[in-house]
Amino acid sequence: MRKLKRIPNWYFTGAISSGDRSFAQNYELVVRVLKEFGRVPSEHVASSDSLAFEAGQKRQGVNVHARDFKGLDSSIALVADISLPTTGGGAEIDYAVRAGVPTLLVYDANKRGSWFLTQWPQVNGAPPNLAVKAYSSSSQLENLVRDFAQQVLQDNPPLPGAYLIVEGGEGCGKTKQRELLGVHLREQGFDVVEGREPGLTRSAEAIRNILLHPDYKGALGQLAELFLFEAARAEIFEQVIIPVMRSGGIMLSDRSYFSTIAYQGFGRGMGLATIDLLNHKATGGVKPDLAIVIDVDPKVGLGRMTTAEFGKADRFEQEKLDFHNRVRQGYLCAAEREPNVVVLPYVDGIDNMQSEVRKVADKFLTENFVEEK
Ligand code: TYD
Repeated sequence: MRKLKRIPNWYFTGAISSGDRSFAQNYELVVRVLKEFGRVPSEHVASSDSLAFEAGQKRQGVNVHARDFKGLDSSIALVADISLPTTGGGAEIDYAVRAGVPTLLVYDANKRGSWFLTQWPQVNGAPPNLAVKAYSSSSQLENLVRDFAQQVLQDNPPLPGAYLIVEGGEGCGKTKQRELLGVHLREQGFDVVEGREPGLTRSAEAIRNILLHPDYKGALGQLAELFLFEAARAEIFEQVIIPVMRSGGIMLSDRSYFSTIAYQGFGRGMGLATIDLLNHKATGGVKPDLAIVIDVDPKVGLGRMTTAEFGKADRFEQEKLDFHNRVRQGYLCAAEREPNVVVLPYVDGIDNMQSEVRKVADKFLTENFVEEK
């Protein structure tokens, strides 16, 4: 059986000044050192120009900081060069520190850095996952980053296996696509465990029945609904998903916390901050490595639905078209703010769709994992 080994992702953020090349050289140095220990999928660097761009976006009411967070949750650690104030005054640093992501802030001792960020531990208490260090030469910077990366890998060995999901609104055909992808990955010799949310274990399947059965229509409040999805999720993460990832296998699932963002967050209009927090608790912060979202117009999707499970449309399938349109919007927004989300437009024909799904999954596995010998 082929076993996987994850290549860790590192998150870098910093700022450069067009007038002073040393900022750019230091930033490139940090990224080069981090790449010795894995991947740096995107570099979050603010320059004078990008600040102007962001100001323009903000005037139009766009939350541009979201861009900076992309990839943070699935990164093993964050390193920020705060010799210049970073984009958004370090909003992603604040988030990482509070979410428990190991964080190293470095700054050029001669430039004093962003005062607020250098004072983070004094102002906010000294969280164990945060270190703030000054450097006065590039070799000192190199050593600081290398020591930090080694320590992080030693303290938080990444789960070797992969967690892939297929997502989308009603009738997008994701279950069939997930099954066919499972066949494909097994043919390549991987150890694949398949599942669905809500469901999979005995208790999570019992919770599924309450959540979906049309008999509970009108008999389940929004908050209870949200908690039940999270309860089922907590159960399968502990019982199945984490153990599969720990063993170097592939967990392949229908749906995940993206559904909660889309259905409860956008469909029901519940607060995303609460949803993020509960998702984080239920999953222990483990996010899907790859989410393939099949994007279908709800008018088309609802027309393709089957009612096999309960003999009639389930509690969600019975919702109005407006609800499903909001769900679709929710997926597209989640795709913007989350890393490793690929949105595939729905195409007719199971095989046509599957060949798109396989292309994405194969490329992703090759880029993010090596084989455990
Ligand atoms: P399921 O049968 O898995 O999906 P489908 O009917 O598309 O094949 O049903 C799960 C339903 O639960 C689906 O309507 C989406 C909804 N759901 C949420 O509202 N929130 C969640 O967190 C999850 C996992 C699912």
